[in-house]
Formats: sequence, structure tokens, C-alpha cells
Amino acid sequence: MWTTIAGWTGFFRFVVRDAAADRCWAALFPRLPGAPEIVMTIMVVGGAGFIGSNFVLEWLSLGLEPVVNLDKLTYAGNRTNLSGLPPDRHLFVHGDKADRALTAELLAQRRPRAVVDFAAETHVDRSIRGPEAFLTTNVLGTFHLLEAVRAYWLGLAGAEREAFRFLQISTDEVYGSLGPDDPAFVEESPYAPNSPYAASKAAADHLTRAYGRTYGLPTLTTNCSNNYGPFQFPEKLVPLMILNGLAGRDLPIYGDGRQIRDWLHVADHCRALRLTLERGRPGETYNIGGGQEKTNLETVELLCRLLDELAPAADGRPRRDLMRRVADRPGHDRRYAVDFSKIARELGFAPARTFEQGLRETVEWYLGHRSWTDDVVSGAYRDWVKVHYGAASLEGGEKS
Ligand SMILES: NC(=O)c1ccc[n+]([C@@H]2O[C@H](COP(=O)([O-])OP(=O)(O)OC[C@H]3O[C@@H](n4cnc5c(N)ncnc54)[C@H](O)[C@@H]3O)[C@@H](O)[C@H]2O)c1
Repeated sequence: MWTTIAGWTGFFRFVVRDAAADRCWAALFPRLPGAPEIVMTIMVVGGAGFIGSNFVLEWLSLGLEPVVNLDKLTYAGNRTNLSGLPPDRHLFVHGDKADRALTAELLAQRRPRAVVDFAAETHVDRSIRGPEAFLTTNVLGTFHLLEAVRAYWLGLAGAEREAFRFLQISTDEVYGSLGPDDPAFVEESPYAPNSPYAASKAAADHLTRAYGRTYGLPTLTTNCSNNYGPFQFPEKLVPLMILNGLAGRDLPIYGDGRQIRDWLHVADHCRALRLTLERGRPGETYNIGGGQEKTNLETVELLCRLLDELAPAADGRPRRDLMRRVADRPGHDRRYAVDFSKIARELGFAPARTFEQGLRETVEWYLGHRSWTDDVVSGAYRDWVKVHYGAASLEGGEKS
């Protein structure tokens, strides 16, 4: 299954950092007849989930290097997100990031110049009901992946070793909750996670930092605010409200609905990740945000307006009438806000969309991809929603 490139890489231990250089190299040194192709790759872990699949699709559409995509395909992973990708550009491997033998083999055979780790258990409500899976994947899984990556990186030499990067994708939730007038989280803000999900991500961030400090592994960590956009599993706030609104079901709002979240379109997040990978300084962490703080009530009201405009209900009833208060989540963080001036200043990042624009595009995407949502809303998903929220409604949780 694997292309044998080991012999060639022994001769050509060069590193191509971007697509332009890649094309330039290919033009200067066309392949000899019969010679195996030397292909730089990146390895994406968890690339069948919401953000990971957006990242992979954009990466490949930009003509960047081929991707080896390792994903366990939990309930949140979906291979159809990646359907149609050419096999010479995208290699999907079904497996667990905690499987050190598998990751070591993939690294040795594909020799990626970077590993980008999206793989995680990500839903806060699930972490409250069953934290163990979160520790298993987010903490132990990250540890095993880091160990395999460290061994691989130690075996690299020269420019290849110099250029290698491990990028840990994390969340603003590791910083805990802000008061209404507190300044936004900066990279130096102390970690104060409040849910098992956030605690497990914090542990993964600390491990990543430790591998940088102790072993010199060139790590990068990003802490991003709430994402929304195509391919988001409908247990999270935005797609659930869209689907419930379309079906005329209740739109449940936790507590008073005045919890504040900062929102970023997933495409803006992915661009920030590419910048971090290419220009980020090893050992650094970068906060990524959208500068779009909204209460949950504001978000749901905006979604209702968009749905009424783009897909009016058959009976003409405004979607707002479907909003219902439900008991608040235990330990619910009141406010997240992210100061992303470091990545703006150092790497030139700025979000391209306002929340209103991005949300409109997202509603349009879900309207145009009904078969995708029908497919992912499986029996197991329905069982979870029933247990967590009761039979009356299909959930109204937050992003994670
Ligand atoms: N969604 C957000 O708003 C948000 C914001 C900031 C940071 N993040 C972080 O970004 C990353 C991706 O989030 P998402 O929303 O795309 O998550 P998701 O739940 O949609 O996808 C997670 C993916 O990881 C895979 N996976 C889970 N356990 C695995 C394992 N042990 N080995 C290999 N693959 C495994 C799943 O199959 C799935 O494809 C997570 O680390 C999350 O903490 C998410």
C-alpha cells in the first residue's frame, strides 16, 4: 500500500516548506523515467471530524502537500466529508492516535514534515456524563502520539529535522471563564479548566509544552474560540439550532442564555493554522479568535432570522417562537473571549468574515447538504440526545 520512498529520501533529505517551492523544485528536477516520486507530506490526526476535514479539504484545494489522515472514526468522524479526494493526494488511515505502533509505522513510511493533531473527544456535555473517554484520547492518546512523533523526529537529520513541526490544536476553554468586564484571554493567562473536556485538553497542552521544553521537539499550540461552519456534527449549538429550526422542533437554550462566546468561522481557523504551521515559532502558543463576542441568545436569534429568510416555515411561524429555556449545564462557563493580537502581529492573521456573514454561509451550506445531515444523525446520536435532554427536543448544547 505504501509507496517506497525510503531509498530516495536517503539521497534527498531536503525540505520543501511551501507549495510554490514544491512546484519550483519539480520544474527544476523533473522525475526520471521509472523513478519513484519524492513526495513531501503532512500527517493530520483526527482529519475526519469537523475542523480536521475542513482543514484537509482546504489544504488540498490550495495545492499543498499530500495528506496522511489518521482518524479513529468515532461518532464525530465522518469519511464522507472527505469523499472524492484523489488517492495520490489523500491517504486515509483508520486508527487510534494512541496506537503507537501504527503511528510510528506511518511516520516512518510517509516521513511527514509536520503532524497536526485535531483528534479529540470534544463535546463538553459528553465529558460531564462520561469523562473517561476524554482522558483516554485527549490525555493518554496525545501522550502516545507525542512519543511516536518524538522518536520519529529524533531519527531525522539536518534541514528535515530543523523544519519538522508538531501542531497541537486546542481550545480557549482551557483558560476557564471570564467575568463580564475581564480582559480577553492572552497566551499567558493561567489555565483554569472547568469541565472534564477542558481539563483533558489542558493536560494535552501541558504535555505538548513539556515535550518542547524537555526534548526540544518543535511544537506549536493554538487555542481557538468557538468554531462554526460546514461539516459540524449536529450536537453543537449552531448546526443543532439550524436542524431543529428546519424541523420545527424546540430550540433549547441553557439557563438564561446570556453566556458569551467568541465565534470564528472554521475557514478562518484553518487559515490561522496554516500560518502557524508555516511561520509560527517553535515552542510558542497562539490564541486564535474571531473578535465576535455574542450571547447564546443573540446567536440563536440570528440563526432564527436567517432561517426565516432563507427557508421560511410552511406555516409562516417565526423560528423565534421555538426557543425554550432548559436547565443550565453544571459548571457552565459564563464568558470566553480571546485576545488574538499575537497571531495577528506575528503571523498576519485576521478573520476574513464577520459572524453574520459566516453564519449566513453556514445556514446556506446546511440547506444545500440535507443528505449529509440525514446521514450523520444516526440512531446512536438520537439515543444520546434523548438521554441527555429528554425526548422532547434534540438538544441545544454549545460548541463543545
Ligand atoms: N469545535 C470547536 O469549536 C473547537 C474550538 C477550538 C478547538 N477545538 C479543538 O479542535 C479539535 C477538533 O475539533 P472538532 O470540533 O473538529 O472535533 P470533532 O469532534 O468534530 O472531531 C474529532 C475527530 O477526532 C477523531 N478522533 C477522536 N478520537 C480519536 C483517536 N483516539 N484517534 C484518532 N482520531 C480520533 C474523531 O473520529 C473525529 O474525526 C479538537 O482537538 C478540539 O478540542 C475545537
